[in-house]
Amino acid sequence: MRRKMVAGNWKMHGNLLENKKLIDAVVTGLNGLHEVGFLVCVPYPYLPSVQNALQNTNIAWGAQNLSQYEKGAYTGEISASMLNDFMCRYVIVGHSERRTLFGEDNHVVAEKYQAAQGAGIIPILCVGETLNQREAGTTEQVIEEQLAAVIKLAGVESLVKAIVAYEPVWAIGTGRTASPEQAQEVHAFIREGIAKTNANVANGLTILYGGSVKASNASELFDMPDIDGGLIGGASLVANDFIAICRALHQ
Ligand code: PGA
Repeated sequence: MRRKMVAGNWKMHGNLLENKKLIDAVVTGLNGLHEVGFLVCVPYPYLPSVQNALQNTNIAWGAQNLSQYEKGAYTGEISASMLNDFMCRYVIVGHSERRTLFGEDNHVVAEKYQAAQGAGIIPILCVGETLNQREAGTTEQVIEEQLAAVIKLAGVESLVKAIVAYEPVWAIGTGRTASPEQAQEVHAFIREGIAKTNANVANGLTILYGGSVKASNASELFDMPDIDGGLIGGASLVANDFIAICRALHQ
């Protein structure tokens, strides 16, 4: 179901003490807001403590990656069923940092997406173009291929139980946000592309924008008709900033 949502992506940041301060402040700041889905995606070792702190609140928790394999001799990997042990409802797949720094291609990302869904976990599928690709005019083609890999493996109906995040790589952690119009254009492209195969799935799909979302630019992005919320990196580590972004979507 299409719903408004703000998800934090802590990336490889935090420690037990800092996390506790951050979580306590965010829980207090978002107390009582229920129309919007809130989520934090945290490093694996902190799942137990975050689960403990967030159960019985209006904030969900999830992971930032998972293995495409169910179990076996995959040293250092984390399976979907392990995430289930900590009641993760969501997991990010195909973040551009995973794609570029850890060599995850469209097929591996699709396998991870399917592994998450196989365990009943909602994948947040990240798609987005690099600056070179944008300048070469291939943004739509890149995104189409990223989505097509998932649709080929899992089917278009699988998107009913998924979230898509459009994250232009050139906007991630750079302070350079896509303009609301630039983001809207790609969000509409994604929704219209899926609608060609299945209009119901397209209408129901939650599409988040990510890439240097801040308290100061969140409202104008969230006002766009096809932007259903945000995936927030840096600003999700600062309680007041994350709360302000969540509130910008709530209004
Ligand atoms: P940023 O990261 O908000 O720090 O740009 C977004 C993301 O990578 O998900």
